[in-house]
Amino acid sequence: MSDVATFWNQRFASPEYAYGDAPNDFLRQQAGRLPPGSKVLSLGEGEGRNAVYLAGLGHQLTAVDAAWTGLAKLLQRADAAGLAVTASLADLEQYDQGEAQWDAIVSVFCHLPTPLRRQVLAAAVRALKPGGLLIMEGYTPRQLAFGTGGPKDVDMLLEPAIVQDELAGLELLQFAETERKVIEGSFHTGRSAVLQVVARKP
Ligand SMILES: C[S@@+](CC[C@H](N)C(=O)[O-])C[C@H]1O[C@@H](n2cnc3c(N)ncnc32)[C@H](O)[C@@H]1O
Repeated sequence: MSDVATFWNQRFASPEYAYGDAPNDFLRQQAGRLPPGSKVLSLGEGEGRNAVYLAGLGHQLTAVDAAWTGLAKLLQRADAAGLAVTASLADLEQYDQGEAQWDAIVSVFCHLPTPLRRQVLAAAVRALKPGGLLIMEGYTPRQLAFGTGGPKDVDMLLEPAIVQDELAGLELLQFAETERKVIEGSFHTGRSAVLQVVARKP
């Protein structure tokens, strides 16, 4: 098993939800942009809070993650809610997002080392259908001063100018570095520096 899978399997091993059971605040604010019945891919979905939320709105969800403990919790909560979510156990390095497949791709606090993030975002641009949306939130390097969650390695944080470059090919509908209170489970615990993105494939 990879180091990434080992780390995240441990984090999700306890019955509590590490990032809470409510969906991410930014995703909730942006979800109204999705047309009814959208086909949505969630990258690094973890324990399912965002996928189950979107499935509950009537969208068709595929969730990919390297941690089976997270996906097991996702499937349990989807089942309890009577919702269908497709769970794919895979490292994003190997996962094939396909070509012009998705009405939306969601990435919430899915922090990856820079070379892998470049690869995954380039693949996401290809994998969106024309008109499809990327909805993404993650911590910027300014988050290191807050210490309220996220990776401590600056290479895994979202520097807006770099991410903008990585999203070449998409039209930026919203692209803002901002500070907000992120209270999402026991690992995201306060005032934070985040990048919030909504981008559309022309
Ligand atoms: C901070 S958690 C966020 C989980 C979820 N998006 C949420 O907001 O609740 C980061 C997630 O990314 C996943 N992840 C990190 N690196 C990955 C990789 N290389 N391939 C697949 N999943 C990965 C982890 O397993 C974990 O579920």
